[in-house]
Amino acid sequence: MPEADTSKKQKQYHEDVPMETPGFFLKGAGNLDWGMKNRLARIFNPDTGRTVMLAIDHGYFQGPTTGLERIDLNIVPLMPHADAIMLTRGILRTTVPPSLTKPIVMRCSGGPSILKELSNEQLSVDIEDAIRMNVAAITLQVFIGGEHETRSIHNMTKLVDMGLRYGIPTMAVTAVGKDMVRDAKYFRLACRICAELGVQFVKTYYVPEDFETITASCPVPIVMAGGKKLAEFDALTMAYHAIQGGASGVDMGRNIFQSDAPEAMMKAVSSVVHQNTTPKEAYEIFETLKNQK
Ligand code: 5RP
Repeated sequence: MPEADTSKKQKQYHEDVPMETPGFFLKGAGNLDWGMKNRLARIFNPDTGRTVMLAIDHGYFQGPTTGLERIDLNIVPLMPHADAIMLTRGILRTTVPPSLTKPIVMRCSGGPSILKELSNEQLSVDIEDAIRMNVAAITLQVFIGGEHETRSIHNMTKLVDMGLRYGIPTMAVTAVGKDMVRDAKYFRLACRICAELGVQFVKTYYVPEDFETITASCPVPIVMAGGKKLAEFDALTMAYHAIQGGASGVDMGRNIFQSDAPEAMMKAVSSVVHQNTTPKEAYEIFETLKNQK
């Protein structure tokens, strides 16, 4: 049994040396098959290597979340402005028009509601159904350090195996328990475990200190999770620092659909992600578009 890493030697992340990406524009994807690369190229813009995903899957454990009460009215009109949509198959089939050509990142884990222990998830979508829905990627929650850590990791490796069989990339979401510390050390551990066990990209939270060590030590792209609603300027600042710290995009929910002007916010986030716009410039874009409405 290997021992814990107790070396006193300073770790070297070489944050300023980007990992080379021979064979494809995305980190760690050079040796994947054509179908897998093609799906990733639908999610991540090949010109910038980045993505703005809209996460609206919250209902799978917390029901009609604020802002998602009527996805048909409030969210479907927003979808054309995102690069990809993360959602459940129930919402896809009931509410999203099949004429939408945006890539779908399908939530494939579930089980406990907000009333129970959230780490006790199982896989919730079969790969045949994911193929039927023409998804671009499959995704699940991984609870490193959580009560059901091993089960969620096993869910992940099963999903990765199913995805590899059919050329569908898997995104792991590093879920953090209520009482757990959210710092770079934790997210380095969680993201690296997910990458080592085979996912093609990871969604994780931004931390102000040493975020670049998380992206540098993870050999696949990282997209930043949005988290709870912040003031728009603060959310744009967080996205900016994540992108400048090596994130390959964002997957934001509440900070977009709970904004007073969700479409303006999505476009402002997009400028941060794809054009390296500063938070101040992006906020001006937000205000201008908001006032035009
Ligand atoms: C649940 C998820 C959700 O998709 C997502 O993270 C929620 O988005 P946001 O935090 O930006 O509202 O993965 O953990």
